[in-house]
Amino acid sequence: MKDYRLVARISEAEIAEQVDRLAQEINRDHGGEPLLVIGILKGAWMFLADLTRRLAMPVEVDFVRLASYGLGSETSGEVRITKDLELPVRGRHVLVVEDIVDTGLTLEWYLRHLKHLDAASVKLCAFIDKYERREAEVPLDYVGIRVPEGFLVGYGLDFAEKHRNLGAIYEVEFLG
Ligand code: IMP
Repeated sequence: MKDYRLVARISEAEIAEQVDRLAQEINRDHGGEPLLVIGILKGAWMFLADLTRRLAMPVEVDFVRLASYGLGSETSGEVRITKDLELPVRGRHVLVVEDIVDTGLTLEWYLRHLKHLDAASVKLCAFIDKYERREAEVPLDYVGIRVPEGFLVGYGLDFAEKHRNLGAIYEVEFLG
């Protein structure tokens, strides 16, 4: 693998500020209505942990893991579920929590899948909206930070399974 370095992009303080704001918006929009929060593994785990502890309504948490048949850093849009939900969705208010939306193809696929499960409502929350390569217009209800491009790691996001545990967000810069 090529050598690379990490360039600081979003600090822990900025992340905390945005997570606070998102939680306030969700609390305001949902009132005391119970919420089923669905985290998309693996990337969303850290954001989901921070976000859910700031939510005021009764919350249940479940996870799905999606694999997309992409080449390198590109997503193909062909997705399959490698770990499915364990809680029922029918009639529930659902908040899907994603770490980063790039082309939007993965989330578009999953939303289509969720439609068949008859939730009372489905809202989408992404911590990072990386908008420049968007191919599918997914309706993001809550967005932490918008960035045009760049490969980001930390705060749950990985590069070849590394750097997920970093508390801040960095951009991968290839050397040479
Ligand atoms: P999409 O289908 O192109 O929107 O891809 C979404 C998925 O690609 C995310 O859930 C991440 O797993 C991964 N991804 C996209 N951009 C990045 C990045 O900058 N860093 C780490 N993972 C990324």
